[in-house]
Amino acid sequence: MSGTSLSAARILLIIGGGVAAYKALDLIRRLRERGAKVRVIMTRAAKQFVTPLSAASLSSEKVYDDLFSLTDEAEMGHIELSRAADLLVVAPATADLIARMANGLADDLATTALLATDKKTLLAPAMNLRMWLHPATQRNVATLQKDGALFVGPTEGEMACGEFGPGRMAEPLDIVAAVEAALAEPTTLPLPPVARAPRDEKPLAGTHVLITSGPTHEPIDPVRFIANRSSGRQGHAIAAAAAAAGARVTLVSGPVAIPDPPGVAAIHVESAREMLEAVEKALPADIFVAAAAVADWRVAEIGANKLKKGSSGGPSLKLVENPDILASVAQSPSRRPAVVVGFAAETENVLAHARDKLLKKKCDLIVANDVGEGTGVFGGRTNLVHLVSKDGVESWPSLDKSEVAARLVERLAAMRDAAK
Ligand code: CTP
Repeated sequence: MSGTSLSAARILLIIGGGVAAYKALDLIRRLRERGAKVRVIMTRAAKQFVTPLSAASLSSEKVYDDLFSLTDEAEMGHIELSRAADLLVVAPATADLIARMANGLADDLATTALLATDKKTLLAPAMNLRMWLHPATQRNVATLQKDGALFVGPTEGEMACGEFGPGRMAEPLDIVAAVEAALAEPTTLPLPPVARAPRDEKPLAGTHVLITSGPTHEPIDPVRFIANRSSGRQGHAIAAAAAAAGARVTLVSGPVAIPDPPGVAAIHVESAREMLEAVEKALPADIFVAAAAVADWRVAEIGANKLKKGSSGGPSLKLVENPDILASVAQSPSRRPAVVVGFAAETENVLAHARDKLLKKKCDLIVANDVGEGTGVFGGRTNLVHLVSKDGVESWPSLDKSEVAARLVERLAAMRDAAK
């Protein structure tokens, strides 16, 4: 008899190691005739009785038999293997397999799949009658029944060993009937709901943060350049804090004497134009922090050779304005990050200038600091900052630059969430 009574049913058949294993091959055929999709796991002992090749050709599926096969785990983990089924069928269910199941062992792929499933299991026991009647086996069967397992057989008859009694595996068609009966009822076990662990608790996980840091060097001739006193400490500290918060960080750094922070992709540049080019290449990003002290001007014509002292006094350098990296990123029509933060290093009217920059450059936040003489901010270890946004000003006490960075990263995560 054949038909489509099991159409679209997904059966995970676990073949245990017993003489009845050959009947499991027929079972595969019978299940498939009725439209079921059958995946097979064979225990090591089962392979002593039937070959994986027979099971594979009958099921038209790869046969699984090794818990630690990395390629199998890459294609489909053992959890997925057992959860993708509507019903698990163990045939033949040997005394050993029943005992391991009843005790929750997971020492091979078969028992691991049986333990990891959230679906019902139908067992077709097959063993010597003394083994079946042994109180240990009966106890294990009772335990499994209490846990929701279904049984078909064993039947009475003459055993392979010549004895007569219960212990023969049910015939394939009887197992098919039991499968049909099992699938007529819900097969998902009444287990407590499993809460999914949050994918990543780090506040900036999955976020690309692009940061500029340090000064730029604008060449005058092959040996001289215009620079500023920025040490890169604050920008580098922000990069380190963002990486620690789970972000993928690209740090575009001008020439500094401090090392690249760990876990950060650092790109080293010299001039403002190189910095702009590196930033554009690193986009898109979710958050952009312009912490670099970019030189506002560069020398219009860089001497091809070293400038020499002459009789007519010093040379006069014609300066031209550098591109504004922050403004260009913040105003990019297609690649503006969700959060754009600038710094304002001021020596007077700190807040007023910071507000001007917020509007002029169109960023979301300006971290303003007073770098006037005697503050020790430029090149120093501490910073005194005011956060200027459209919502107002928030002033922080004098803090270590790493503490400013950590607090700023928290703020960035909140701003990124708000921008979603
Ligand atoms: N910035 C930039 N590119 C420039 C100049 C500045 O990306 N060519 C960024 C800095 O990284 C900082 C912010 O702009 O985040 C403010 O820089 P600042 O030098 O303080 O302001 P300026 O725009 O240069 O204005 P001013 O010199 O008039 O103060």
